[in-house]
Amino acid sequence: MRILVTGKNGQLGRSIHKLVNTDSKIDNNQSSNEFIFVGREELDLSNESSISHYFDSNDRFDVIINCAAYTAVDKAEEEQELANQVNHLAVKQLAGIAKEQKAKLIHISTDYVFDGTGSKPYKETDKTNPINVYGKTKLAGEKALQEIMPTNAMIIRTSWVYSEYGNNFVKTMLRLGKERDEINVVSDQIGSPTYATDLAKAILKIIDNRDYQDKDRATEIYHHSNKGEISWYDFTKEIFKLAKIDCKVSPITTEQYPTPAKRPRNTLMSKDKIIEEFSLEILDWKKSLETCITILKE
Ligand SMILES: NC(=O)c1ccc[n+]([C@@H]2O[C@H](COP(=O)([O-])OP(=O)(O)OC[C@H]3O[C@@H](n4cnc5c(N)ncnc54)[C@H](OP(=O)(O)O)[C@@H]3O)[C@@H](O)[C@H]2O)c1
Repeated sequence: MRILVTGKNGQLGRSIHKLVNTDSKIDNNQSSNEFIFVGREELDLSNESSISHYFDSNDRFDVIINCAAYTAVDKAEEEQELANQVNHLAVKQLAGIAKEQKAKLIHISTDYVFDGTGSKPYKETDKTNPINVYGKTKLAGEKALQEIMPTNAMIIRTSWVYSEYGNNFVKTMLRLGKERDEINVVSDQIGSPTYATDLAKAILKIIDNRDYQDKDRATEIYHHSNKGEISWYDFTKEIFKLAKIDCKVSPITTEQYPTPAKRPRNTLMSKDKIIEEFSLEILDWKKSLETCITILKE
């Protein structure tokens, strides 16, 4: 299969790239697949003609994995048009192209499509109600994709993504923990972190799944993150513990840490559907965090 991965310089794109270049690390056989990784230089999702031009000048793909997104949650409040173009209109265009090419489309979305007021883990069918611009544009992308591709697409919502790459919460905390003696972290936002390598492995396993390869499989939404229910405060304490950083962590409320974009309070998601349909093993958040911190220390 010819598989296109967008967002090659992002956390998830780089994690998939690393896995397909070290076949032995995954328990499936990707060798018959050809992966093509693209960044905004080749395929600029903020530009409609860049997208058409890229697909017009390349052979068709069997699978498109869209890891690219406008992910600056706070900045999106100011840059609504750009966020909407990348997270919504470009996804709509990609869906049209995938349908025309008879390609499968795997699109990544977010827990921020929920308002976070629920008390049980969100299921894929639960009511969405984004409370910030980023979440609204991601939801609009999901809806456009589902409308254009009632079959052959898949939306995977994930949460709190971190990795060895780019900027993320874990790397920020490791830096701040070394610079400061004490740090205040929000303790009333609950969710599950996702190690990008774990999500990348799940995606590769899904692509290799015979059921997934069925023609005209109905488009579905799935939730994926690591296992566990924690706050940013809990996350920080474990990061410092694993990295042996001596910095005091104090819990604060969301009100004490105002940000331009509102954050949902509890976006814990149920992973039952993806686990059952694709026989996935979901790792505990502490185990995956340890793996990432070990790699960062190397
Ligand atoms: N990060 C999280 O905590 C989180 C949480 C929930 C869901 N998600 C979703 O998970 C997916 C992967 O996220 P991630 O953490 O890997 O994001 P990331 O590290 O921010 O990477 C996003 C990538 O998208 C690219 N991109 C942005 N604008 C673009 C444009 N106009 N044209 C082409 N490429 C563009 C960026 O390119 P440059 O490198 O050139 O800037 C970057 O490489 C996204 O769909 C995101 O919405 C992420």
